[in-house]
Amino acid sequence: MTDSLLDSLRAAVPDLRLKTDAGDLEHYGRDWTRRWTPNPLAIALPGSVEEVQAVMRWAAQRQVRVVPSGGRTGLSGGAVAADGELVMSLERMNKALAFDRVDRTLTVQAGMPLEAVHNAAREHGLEYPVDFAARGSCSIGGNIATNAGGIRVIRYGNTREWIAGLKVVTAQGELLDLNRALVKNSSGYDLRQLMIGSEGTLGIVVEATLRLADPPPPTNVMLLALTSFEGLMEVFAAFRERLRLEAFEFFTDIALRHVLAHGAVKPFDEVYPYYVVTEFAVGDQDSEAAAMAAFEACMEAGWVADGVISQSDAQAQQLWRLREGITESLAPYVPYKNDVSVRISQMPAFLEQTQALLGQAYPHFEVVWFGHIGDGNLHINVLKPEQMAQADFVRDCEQVTKLLAQALKAHGGSISAEHGIGLVKKPYLDSTRGPAEIALMRGIRKALDPQGLLNPGKLFDP
Ligand code: FAD
Ligand code: MLT
Ligand code: ZN
Repeated sequence: MTDSLLDSLRAAVPDLRLKTDAGDLEHYGRDWTRRWTPNPLAIALPGSVEEVQAVMRWAAQRQVRVVPSGGRTGLSGGAVAADGELVMSLERMNKALAFDRVDRTLTVQAGMPLEAVHNAAREHGLEYPVDFAARGSCSIGGNIATNAGGIRVIRYGNTREWIAGLKVVTAQGELLDLNRALVKNSSGYDLRQLMIGSEGTLGIVVEATLRLADPPPPTNVMLLALTSFEGLMEVFAAFRERLRLEAFEFFTDIALRHVLAHGAVKPFDEVYPYYVVTEFAVGDQDSEAAAMAAFEACMEAGWVADGVISQSDAQAQQLWRLREGITESLAPYVPYKNDVSVRISQMPAFLEQTQALLGQAYPHFEVVWFGHIGDGNLHINVLKPEQMAQADFVRDCEQVTKLLAQALKAHGGSISAEHGIGLVKKPYLDSTRGPAEIALMRGIRKALDPQGLLNPGKLFDP
C-alpha cells in the first residue's frame, strides 16, 4: 500500500526528492517536544514552488495528509508526524531571492534559517529584528506559521509585524500571492495575516517578503540579581522609564543552576533567587548615566541585590548565554512546558496566583521559571524525574495545566504566548478562545482545506 502510494507520488512529481529510510522518518517526524513516536509515510523535500504545488495536487487527489516542516525546533508538537502523514520539509528551499533598497524588504524562501535571514539583512546594512536562541535551526516559514516571538518583542514586536508579503500553496495546490509587500492595501480580508500563526493548517508558506529595520543602536547588557519576585515588575517599570530597552528577560536560580551545569560562566559568587538580563541602547554619556541611575534606584528600593554590566561583546554574549542556554540545558529532562501570557498590567496579580497554585501543585517536581517578562510571557518548565515514566509525568502535569488554564481565563490571558497550540495545548484552546471564535476558526479551515489534509489534528481536532 505504502509502496504503491509512493510510486504514484514519484510518477506525479518525477524530480521530487523523497526520503524513506527509518532514520530519516524518525528525524523529520518529531520536533523538540520528543513526546510522540514519529511515524510519517515519507519525507518530501521539494526544491521549488512548483514541486510543492504538484505534491499538494497529488495529496488532494489521493487524500494524503501533509505535515509542513521547517527546522522542527517547535515546542508544541506542531511539526510532529506520528500518524502516517507525508512530511513536507522546506529545508531545500532556503535561499534569499531578492532585496529591495527602496521598499527595504528581503524576499526569502520559507526554509531559510532565521540566522541566515539575519545575516542576509545585515549584508544590506539593515536588520531583521525577530530573534531567539533557536535562530541557527528554525526556519522563517516555521517562524511565520507560529508567529514566533523571542527576546526582542519588547522593542520590535512578534513575527507578524515584519511580514510584508507571503506566497502560500493551498491544500489544493493553488499558489496565493498575498499582499505583494504593499504598505497600504485596503482591499478586503488580509489573508497574509490569517496565514501568520496558522501552524501549517491553512497553507504551506513557500516565500516571504520581510520588512527590514534600521540597524540596532549600540547596546549594553546588564545582569541583575533580584531578591524577590515581587520586585520584578517594579524593576521592569524603573528600567523602561529611564532607558530604551531592547530586551528584558528573567529567570530563576534553578534555571541558572542548569545553565551553569551546561558550561555557562558563573556571574556572582552568591546565589540569588531571581535574575534579569536586560539590553538597552547606549552610545552617549546620558544613556550610560541613566542606566546607572536605574540600577542604583532599584538597589536603594531593595529590589536589586547585585548587578554586572557588560564591558565587551564577549561579556555581553556570556551574560546572554545565561538566559539563552536555558532551553538546551533543560532538554535532557524532557520538560513539560507551559508558555503563557497575560497583559503586562495583569502580570503581578497573575504571578501571585500562579506561584501559589504551582507551589501547591508541584511539591515533588522541579519547576523552572523564565521568560519574556516585559511582554507578559512566562515559561514554566516542569522537569521529569529520571525514574518516572513520561506518560505518568505528562498526566500529572496536565492536571495542573487545567488549573493554570482556569487562572489564565480569569485574567484574560493565553495558553500559548508564542509557541503555538500544536498537539500539546489543544485541550486548552477554549481557555483562550471563546466557542463562537473556535467555530469560526474551524469554518475558515474548512473553507481553505475542505478535505482536512494540512497538518490534521493540530490546533483542534477535525
Ligand atoms: P517547526 O518546528 O518545523 O514547525 C512549527 C510549526 O510550523 C508546525 O505547525 C509546522 O507544521 C509549521 N510550519 C513549518 N514550516 C512551515 C511552512 N513553510 N508553511 C506552513 N507551516 C509551516 N519560539 C519563540 O516564539 N520564541 C522563542 O524565544 C523561542 N526560543 C526557542 C529556543 C529554543 C532553544 C528552541 C528549541 C525553540 C524556541 N522557540 C521559540 C520555539 C521554535 O523555535 C519556534 O516556534 C519556531 O518558530 C519554529 O520554527 P521551525 O522552523 O523550527 O518550525
Ligand atoms: C525561550 O524563551 O527561551 C523559548 O521560548 C524556549 C522555551 O520556552 O524553552
Ligand atoms: Zn520564549
